[in-house]
Amino acid sequence: MAERRPRVWVSQPLFDDVVARLHDHFDVDQVAAVREHDAAGVAAALGDVDGALVTLNERVGRDEIANATKLRAVANVGVGYNNLDIDALHARGIVATNTPDVLTETTADFGFALMMAAARRVTEAERHLRAGRWQGWNFKGLLGADLHGSTLGILGMGRIGQGIARRASGFEMRVLYHNRSRLPADIERDCNASYVDFDTLLAQADHLVLVLPYSAASHHIVDAAALAKMKPTATLTNIARGGIVDEAALADALGSGRLASAALDVFEGEPAVDPRLLALDNIVLTPHIASGSLATRRAMVALAVDNLIAALGAGPEAGRPPTPIAPAATGGKDAKRPGTA
Ligand code: DGY
Repeated sequence: MAERRPRVWVSQPLFDDVVARLHDHFDVDQVAAVREHDAAGVAAALGDVDGALVTLNERVGRDEIANATKLRAVANVGVGYNNLDIDALHARGIVATNTPDVLTETTADFGFALMMAAARRVTEAERHLRAGRWQGWNFKGLLGADLHGSTLGILGMGRIGQGIARRASGFEMRVLYHNRSRLPADIERDCNASYVDFDTLLAQADHLVLVLPYSAASHHIVDAAALAKMKPTATLTNIARGGIVDEAALADALGSGRLASAALDVFEGEPAVDPRLLALDNIVLTPHIASGSLATRRAMVALAVDNLIAALGAGPEAGRPPTPIAPAATGGKDAKRPGTA
């Protein structure tokens, strides 16, 4: 009797030519159109498969895997994995993987772009022009803040944070960072960055960028009290996870002029965005696209495919997925190496 081929579920349409490698080893249940899967839908999809390739849109926790008796591996297409309950997966012996490294530079590029857009009011100025409100060159119109020569604050100094720090050298910025643990001296030197405590970071940053993992400990870490410690002229950029910022407090701070401007690529209830944020002019809003260059998104899928093939014991790296998630790691961007994220 022919041996049963393992079955895998691919939760969203990704890049067909990249995902095609799964067909060499497995029967593939590929979702054909972008869709939201609720908990029952994920549980049903996982019910009869050996592995799954999922995105941050799919939550995979205790309930979703309760009846997934064959499930052996979940490959997340994303570096952040707060959509996965790692303890629950590991307790069942299910391997979980993510896609670090391949998106570091692209995401750092975008973090820098958002910070610049917030400082120089790029999207606000474009809306002004498109709405026909530009009445001629206005010497004092839409004035912003400089990046060059200013102080950059980075909260979360993993690989993406370090990428942003390296970019800041070209702008002759002073770079301060705060992280769960201080980086080794050689990395600090490479990044030209100085470690400070959280309050000093808030108080001294002209531009604060959030790149830390999302966990219970970082939930709303940027709240009204933290915002009150920032300079009124400062900008805040979030490319990590929405839940890190108390969005109501941010809307208050931006609306009252307590904070100059912000840029958000991630939202606590995404894809829903707080209407108070939508109504503000001094905020740049993008739909979670920091890793979204074509080459990087393809590389993320390719790594997730490698992970799934190896985790299910097939291919040249059988049994050794390239980027497994370690037990007890916290689930956010840069979270593979908890000591440095
Ligand atoms: C990630 O990988 O965590 C991003 O947020 C999605 O691209």
